[in-house]
This record gives sequence, C-alpha cells and structure tokens, in this order.
Amino acid sequence: MNMASIAALFLFFIVIRAQSEGQTFITVECKTGNVVQYGQQSMLDCVVKTTQVVRDATILVVSWEKEDTKGAVRVLTFEKGRIDPKPGFRFAEPSWNDKNMNVSLLITNTTLKDIGKYKCVVMTDSGDNTNHTNLSVTAKYNEPMIHSIPEKITRDEDVTLICTSEGGYPEGRLGWFDEHGIKWPDSSPLQVENASNGLFKLTSRLSLLKNTIFSKYTCKVFNASGAKEGETALEIPGKVAEQEGRKELDEPTKIVAPVVVIGSLIVGMLLALLVYRRRSRKARRFSTTPLMSDHHRVSESAAEEGDHLNIETQ
Ligand SMILES: *[C@@H]1O[C@H](CO)[C@@H](O)[C@H](O)[C@H]1NC(C)=O
Ligand SMILES: *[C@@H]1O[C@H](CO)[C@@H](O)[C@H](O)[C@H]1NC(C)=O
Repeated sequence: MNMASIAALFLFFIVIRAQSEGQTFITVECKTGNVVQYGQQSMLDCVVKTTQVVRDATILVVSWEKEDTKGAVRVLTFEKGRIDPKPGFRFAEPSWNDKNMNVSLLITNTTLKDIGKYKCVVMTDSGDNTNHTNLSVTAKYNEPMIHSIPEKITRDEDVTLICTSEGGYPEGRLGWFDEHGIKWPDSSPLQVENASNGLFKLTSRLSLLKNTIFSKYTCKVFNASGAKEGETALEIPGKVAEQEGRKELDEPTKIVAPVVVIGSLIVGMLLALLVYRRRSRKARRFSTTPLMSDHHRVSESAAEEGDHLNIETQ
C-alpha cells in the first residue's frame, strides 16, 4: 500500500466512526474562566467547530442549560427553527441563525443567581456535541464609611469606631490603620451580612482608649483576593487640653505688649526730662558765662553725664 491509500483508509475509518457516534464532525469549544462584574452583561463564549470534511453544517438544535443542584434549567433553546429564550438571556450574535456557528450565550444583567455551571448542547446535520463552561461574578465594595460611638470624639472618654462597606462579592475583609500606616486588629470579629441581592455588607469595629487615640484612622476594604478596593480616613481633632495650652501661649504676648508700651513711655519721659534739664542748664550757662574754653565745655559735658547717671539712679 502506498501513502495515499493509507491516508484514504484512515479517513474512511474516521468517517465510519463519526457516522456511528453521530458527533465527530463537530465540536463545541467554549472559553472558560468567565468572571463578570455584577450588574453587567456576561457572555459565555462557545463556537461550533467543524472538521474539514464538513464544509457547511446547519444547526438543528441549541440548548443552553444552567446546571443546578436540582438538575438543569433551560435558559435558551433553538429547536425546530424557533428561538426560545428565558427573560434576560439571548444569543450573543444579534441576528443569529442556524448557519451561524457562534452560539455564545449573553446574559443581559448578571446577578448572583447566574453564578454556576452551564451546559451547551448543539445538534447539527453533521453531528452533535456538548460542552460546559462556568460563570463567576464579582462585585466591587463601596467606599467604606466610618462612624463612631459616641458620635463626638472628645478624647475624655473611650470610643469605638465602626467601619462598614457594602455591595461587594465574594466575601472580602476590612482593615484598620493608624496615621503611621500601622495595622490595628479589629476589636471584634468581622461582621458579614447578606443583603437581599446576595451582596455582602462588612462591618468592623475598633475600640480606642481615651489616652491612646491617634489623630487619624483609615479603614480599608479588600476584595476576596486581597486587593484594596477602597479606603476612608477619619481625622480626630486634638485634645481640648491642647487647645487650652495654645491659649496659654498667647497670654505672655498679651502681657508683653502693655509692658513695651508703658516701658517706652517711661523711657520717653526720662529722655524728655533729660533734654529739658540740659536746655535749661545751657540757658543758665549762656546768661552767666557767655565765653567758654573747649576745656570747660568738655568738663561741662562730663557733668551732664553725671546728671544723666543721677536721673537713672533716682
Ligand atoms: C461570538 O459573537 C460575539 C458577539 O458578536 C462575539 O463577541 C464573540 O467574540 C464571538 N466569538 C467568537 C469565538 O468569535
Ligand atoms: C480583586 O481586585 C483585583 C484588582 O482590582 C482584581 O484583579 C481581582 O480580580 C479582584 N478579585 C475579586 C475576587 O474580586
């Protein structure tokens, strides 16, 4: 046998096998690991691949089913030329027909109910095949909110900070950090609640003793894989005592100002007195001794110096 006849024989066996099982000519290939944001569209991407032997397949049946603990629920079917979708489901291809090998499923508004395993059954005039794909959903947590008990932080009493963040999925966690970025352990276990839509609400508490309160606390929310999704900081005003301290600092300046004013008044009056006395003495001198030697003048000024000293010591 030559190569060509071996190949022909091989092909012959494939065709026989395909016909006996009725599904070897086509395969349904699906993308896996679909992760979709809550509230967005999701697409479960599946296409029908045909072998080279089949050039032009026609689809007879498509059945998209969501597998459940109770069984499978049909969400989209094509059968006997009719498309029958459940509300919120359709073919991803806008004008899908039985010649379109892209049988992807579109979920228009993804919620937590849509999480799970899906089965895609395809029957064509050239064979049948089935495949599965999964859908998981995530939702981003809202910015955390912090409030305190008591509401007003006075630093004269202990306080509990309460941080909440909601609207996330799957379960995440919260963390407390002080102004230096040091993590503080929660004072009670993280409280996890389910909202009616299944999304999580996280609540964490941090108790502070009145004497060990920092000036800033940050609450951060992390998603299930540990990535930070948001943070909110709470600034705590300084102690009331500290503000009083600042007032005390002002006191000396209040005292200093009058002292300076009064002091300069006294100095001014002394100077005025000095000038007055010098003038009156000069006047006297001119009237008694109109002619004076330089020597006299010097001794006069020395005497004046003495007067000055006298005034200061008085
Ligand atoms: C199937 O169709 C959808 C919608 O047109 C498209 O986004 C997707 O990429 C298609 N899939 C493949 C494998 O071509
Ligand atoms: C957490 O957030 C990161 C970054 O935004 C993202 O890549 C990851 O998929 C998220 N994980 C979950 C479980 O939401």
